[in-house]
Amino acid sequence: MIGLKDSDKKNYNTRRRTLLYLIQKYLNDYGYPDIATTLKSEALLNDYEVCDNIDIDIIFLEYCSYQQLKFELPEEWKQFSDMIMRTTLSKNSKIHFKDIIGNDEAITTIKEAVILPLENPLLFENELKPWKSLLLYGPPGCGKTLIAKALCSEIHDYMSFFNITSSVIISKWRGDSEKILNTLFIIARNMAPSVIFFDEIECLTNERNTIHEHESSHRLKSEFLTLLDGIHDSNDNIFVLANTNVPWLIDSAFLRRFEKKILIKLPTIDERQALFHYYLEDSKKWPNHIMEEIKKLSNGFTGDEIRISYVIEKKDVCVNSQLLIDILKSMKPNSYSQYEKHCQWQEEKGSMDRKN
Ligand SMILES: Nc1ncnc2c1ncn2[C@@H]1O[C@H](COP(=O)(O)OP(=O)(O)OP(=O)(O)O)[C@@H](O)[C@H]1O
Ligand SMILES: [Mg+2]
Repeated sequence: MIGLKDSDKKNYNTRRRTLLYLIQKYLNDYGYPDIATTLKSEALLNDYEVCDNIDIDIIFLEYCSYQQLKFELPEEWKQFSDMIMRTTLSKNSKIHFKDIIGNDEAITTIKEAVILPLENPLLFENELKPWKSLLLYGPPGCGKTLIAKALCSEIHDYMSFFNITSSVIISKWRGDSEKILNTLFIIARNMAPSVIFFDEIECLTNERNTIHEHESSHRLKSEFLTLLDGIHDSNDNIFVLANTNVPWLIDSAFLRRFEKKILIKLPTIDERQALFHYYLEDSKKWPNHIMEEIKKLSNGFTGDEIRISYVIEKKDVCVNSQLLIDILKSMKPNSYSQYEKHCQWQEEKGSMDRKN
């Protein structure tokens, strides 16, 4: 524990010991007596017993403060680490990759970057390195955030997942935003393997403008670029996933740091059918010619718009195909107009599909 005062060192050791006692009690209480006995003998836990009324929340709080000491953060930064642990560390959202229709390219890349190295570490022992950063972009409502939620559920047993929106990072106090960002990366490194997910990243990474931009915003972006470089240059097990609807607003220095930039497309005709079947169980029984009409009418609709058409229908209780057809006729595909711009951006700056 380089750099810690003696009192902090003592505190750190006490915390560690307390934590081990608590873990031992947890293992005993939750039906793992053999592991509890092994832990007790290996960690030389003979002096004390934990009271009966200690619960899992206390164990969690103890764990958080132990982590804080371990990170060796300056005192004034600890408030940021508290905030990050409290507000961004995500829990299982119960959405899985199997719940996402289409978007195969993004899901495969994420699995290769995050799940494959954990399941087959030997593959990445030598020159081969997993992807460390991925930008998902595309029209609103096509499943970008959904993919992040599914990743969180898939890995939540063995990785930490930090869900970051710009409001977590942007602070009204000068200089605090950089400290929050730094603290986030320190925590992610210490709790690795970790995924840091930046939703709507354009808010933090728009074009740097030397004339009109406030100096603190400029400094924050420089700091962010350095931290992103850090994950690529080191063996820290951190993966950065980011989302945006407007990739053309992102500064080129940030774009360069995303190894992969994948377009989340509007659903194809078959994917639209799968979406209706997924959200509207009854539609599986509808005759082919009705489904053909529904697929045509929903051309250009996002996954979210298809889900909404079903929600409107469900309010009418009677789920029937004619009503859905009428609703679809009255709806307009909102994201279609910008989709061309997304496809053009993909041609110029995005990563191409593997199939191409
Ligand atoms: N491919 C899909 N498969 C299943 N459901 C989908 C799909 N795409 C969208 N949805 C539905 O639409 C909802 C909204 O999607 P999501 O929040 O992921 O969109 P987004 O791309 O992040 O949009 P925005 O850019 O506006 O944040 C999801 O919660 C889900 O119910
Ligand atoms: Mg989103």
